[in-house]
Amino acid sequence: KKILYSGMQATGTLTLGNYLGALKNWVDLNEEYECLYGVMDLHSLTVRQVPADFRKNARSLYALYVAAGLDPEKNCIYYQSHVSGHAELSWILSCFTYMGELNRMTQFKDKAAKHADNINAGLYTYPVLMAADILLYQSDLVPVGVDQKQHLEITRDIAQRFNAIYGDVFTIPEAYIPKAGAKIMSLQEPEKKMSKSDENANATIRLLDDRDSIIRKFKRAVTDSDSVVRYGEDKPGISNLMDIYSCVTGRSYKEIEKEFDGKGYGDFKLAVGEAVADELAPLQKRYEELMAEKTYLDSMIKANDEKAQYYATKTLRKVQKKVGLTERI
Ligand code: TYM
Repeated sequence: KKILYSGMQATGTLTLGNYLGALKNWVDLNEEYECLYGVMDLHSLTVRQVPADFRKNARSLYALYVAAGLDPEKNCIYYQSHVSGHAELSWILSCFTYMGELNRMTQFKDKAAKHADNINAGLYTYPVLMAADILLYQSDLVPVGVDQKQHLEITRDIAQRFNAIYGDVFTIPEAYIPKAGAKIMSLQEPEKKMSKSDENANATIRLLDDRDSIIRKFKRAVTDSDSVVRYGEDKPGISNLMDIYSCVTGRSYKEIEKEFDGKGYGDFKLAVGEAVADELAPLQKRYEELMAEKTYLDSMIKANDEKAQYYATKTLRKVQKKVGLTERI
């Protein structure tokens, strides 16, 4: 089987964007691949964290992966920080990455603008750690939202550069970016990506929002002064809602346009809100159960940490040997 690899930062509560752009596709692709999913807690350190909250968020993210339908007995779901190879490979790869390349990363530029008081070196080398995550497991496919496309490209460049010098050490990974849902937009400013850190609570649907809040947020979603449900660049708000509705119901844009032909935005928004709430309800229920019972997750975490460590060490030793580091006696 080919290897699928992905992960999310363990910061804040996941949004509907994280779910439709990534998590839902992980579940859909799950059977075809040998899968690893990381709780990317080292990446979260690029932003200041309150230790107790951070620890809770990381646990919650692990539980959300499982609640969404990833079976931790069949998939390797683990904490990035529990496998030392990530940081070790990241260092080696950073010596094969040019500052010019990192300077071009749009996410770094965006984040640096947002956190002007804390533009740390970790934020800058973030893509190298991400490359290490992926390459450590000889991954074939990496399902992500469109905002991670550039990070996948630099990962491939680093791997190809390394392979050109040392032979076939790394598998060159492919990004998997879904057709619908790859970029879910803010419900309040539909020209902006839906983001965990948005200060306007109405802009973002959180995976753990209750049914009433979900429906209320969709009812308040910014649209346009027209009243026709139609997909188009001139209608970012409605197009975003159609994208969400399409992901959740599996209906095409054409079918959605037909379904709401002659109906107003109110009906449409309510339908989207209900569909999303229905989609998330079983996940939320399972999440509560998992969080209430400590031992099951704990045993899964322990077993999977060891499994990940085993795979990671295999690649790491190979890399260390190739670059000429002295072997352990
Ligand atoms: P993160 O935590 O920012 O986002 C997790 C996943 O959610 C996707 N996503 C979105 N998709 C659609 N619409 C949105 N509005 C939206 N917002 C976020 C992201 O594209 C991502 O797939 N660097 C990664 C984490 C990471 C990683 C890795 C991923 C670290 N190492 C190795 C894959 C492989 C990140 O920031 O994700």
